[in-house]
Amino acid sequence: MSALFEGKLVLITGAAQGIGRAILDYFIRHQAEIIIVDIDQNALQTLDITLKITNVKYQIIHCDVTDEKQVNAQFGAAQAHLGKTVDILINVAGGGYCERLQDSTATTFRQEIELNLISAYHCVEALRAGFIKKNKGVIINIGSVNGMTTLGYPCYSAAKAGLESYTKALAVEFGKYGIRANIVCPGSVKTRLWEDRAARNPDIFEDIKKWYPLGDITQPEDIAEAVGFLASDAARMITGIALPVDGGLLAGSPTLVESFTNGKL
Ligand SMILES: NC(=O)c1ccc[n+]([C@@H]2O[C@H](COP(=O)([O-])OP(=O)(O)OC[C@H]3O[C@@H](n4cnc5c(N)ncnc54)[C@H](O)[C@@H]3O)[C@@H](O)[C@H]2O)c1
Repeated sequence: MSALFEGKLVLITGAAQGIGRAILDYFIRHQAEIIIVDIDQNALQTLDITLKITNVKYQIIHCDVTDEKQVNAQFGAAQAHLGKTVDILINVAGGGYCERLQDSTATTFRQEIELNLISAYHCVEALRAGFIKKNKGVIINIGSVNGMTTLGYPCYSAAKAGLESYTKALAVEFGKYGIRANIVCPGSVKTRLWEDRAARNPDIFEDIKKWYPLGDITQPEDIAEAVGFLASDAARMITGIALPVDGGLLAGSPTLVESFTNGKL
């Protein structure tokens, strides 16, 4: 436990499971007050049972972040109930489902853009006036290495690339209001998102390790630590960056270098 975020109100979308849950646990450890947002009612109920018996200050919102009306109404009501506005917004909710362009339709493309890009816009818009009034605010979006290069799931990849650009626009346009905006881009992290692929290939995580210079798979907690740093005052001059947390994947592939050097690496 530390008091790093004591007195801060943090809103995390997609906080019921996976990476969002690890980010939630990070902010709990650092004594923030938290608004937990997720679409999964069962997962929220389980979380509520766990948190009720602690002294964590939290509020749960069951909300679909792709729905602008729900976001505006519920975020507004939560802030009014608490009598304060959010200090730190972390947009985690997202996911990719369509593996190839050949399998996509305009509908699947639109759905993945809405889930991974437009939802972040709704959440920022719902909180923007509060940030501007305080002349301070932190926005952290969760992107993906798959928004920085092409790794399949093309609708998702396009959305995450858009999210990076949107994050930079936020940093540039709202810097004058003391608002910082950054995007953290994970490599492969073992969560629910991988269930289908792991069902088809139970060794998938062992198989993909060879592409990562560090030879290991990123854990949800690794993402939470990076988010925590960027949300803290230690990062007060950092805005508009895209930070890969990817075991070196985007730096290059040892497997490819092995081939180039006839196995000398
Ligand atoms: N797991 C990975 O390998 C990986 C890699 C790069 C980026 N990411 C990104 O990290 C984020 C979290 O992914 P994860 O792996 O933890 O997935 P996850 O499925 O375990 O968690 C996502 C959470 O978001 C919630 N959610 C989904 N749609 C929502 C909606 N419309 N409204 C509100 N909540 C919604 C889900 O209920 C779930 O609790 C996503 O943005 C994802 O794109 C994941």
